[in-house]
Amino acid sequence: MRSASIHPRTLGYLGRALSLEYSAVQQYMTQAGLADAWGLKDAGDRFRREVVEELQHAERIVKRMLGLGVAPSASQLRPAGVARDLVDLLRQDQALEAEILDLYREATEFCRRIGDAENAAFFEGLLREEQHHAGEIDDWLGSLGAAPADNRHDRAYF
Ligand SMILES: [Fe+2]
Ligand SMILES: [Fe+2]
Repeated sequence: MRSASIHPRTLGYLGRALSLEYSAVQQYMTQAGLADAWGLKDAGDRFRREVVEELQHAERIVKRMLGLGVAPSASQLRPAGVARDLVDLLRQDQALEAEILDLYREATEFCRRIGDAENAAFFEGLLREEQHHAGEIDDWLGSLGAAPADNRHDRAYF
């Protein structure tokens, strides 16, 4: 039974978050396979570690939804895009991570505004981890000599 005190919009954020985290799992898993096929073993291994991280985020959201008495249901997965090289892949990751950051930022602000401190803290915890993750992807791209892409995520937001 759904908790009466949970705002429907908060449930909407959780559902979108689950969809994006599963999309990230699919994207990094695809990229691990591509990197392997291109002979980039280190990159493949690194993408596989990202798969585990994103899966853990999805699991946290599933547990949160169960704790709130709702059935976890991700809706649509983003298709993993095509790419010619590692820089292309990482640009796709920047875009997906930026979208995830926007969602967690908005969800955190919303929960704060309605006085739902518990869910605000939940979303903020994920936000912080994804800010760190987005920074790692930026650094990886930088190490490849790629110019920083449009940095829509703002690491100093909170
Ligand atoms: Fe994630
Ligand atoms: Fe991430």
